[in-house]
Amino acid sequence: MVERLEQKLAVLFVCLGNICRSPMAEGAFRAAAQKAGLECTVGSAGTASYHIGETPDPRAIAMAKEHGVDISEARGQQLERDDFYAFTHIFALDNANLQGIKATAPRDGLANVALLMDAVEGCEGQAIKDPYYGDIDDFRLAWSEIDRAVAALIARFREHGLKAQF
Ligand code: 4NP
Repeated sequence: MVERLEQKLAVLFVCLGNICRSPMAEGAFRAAAQKAGLECTVGSAGTASYHIGETPDPRAIAMAKEHGVDISEARGQQLERDDFYAFTHIFALDNANLQGIKATAPRDGLANVALLMDAVEGCEGQAIKDPYYGDIDDFRLAWSEIDRAVAALIARFREHGLKAQF
């Protein structure tokens, strides 16, 4: 059994390309955590390698900006084995990516892996729909669902700290 050297909340959001949903989730969560005074590390990644090194989709950047969050400095990364030791919690934006995350997880990985919307009462099992092939309204819907999920996560982490399980 591998043990964590450092006990600090560290949250990773994972979608497919890491240019639309997960950078928005990372930005929304970082801003909300800061506002709540919750100390944590926040990151995002994709299960696919298509957009490594790229900036978020301009529509995701615009949507975050509308909500006072700057995600323009983010760069696409692919989920790695090390992430299962570096992060305490890994949230999938949809079910396909949840399966992808589980397929990548090392057997002794330490992170609690869950579907993001499972944190929202009444929305368990739901996906944040991929807005990439859609329009700005699809990004708006994704942001509002992410925002709801982020609020639920913050409440759980404030109550249970890094021991919160999803
Ligand atoms: P994301 O959206 O997973 O929310 O970042 C996508 C971005 C790119 C692609 C698919 C989904 N793509 O096929 O390139």
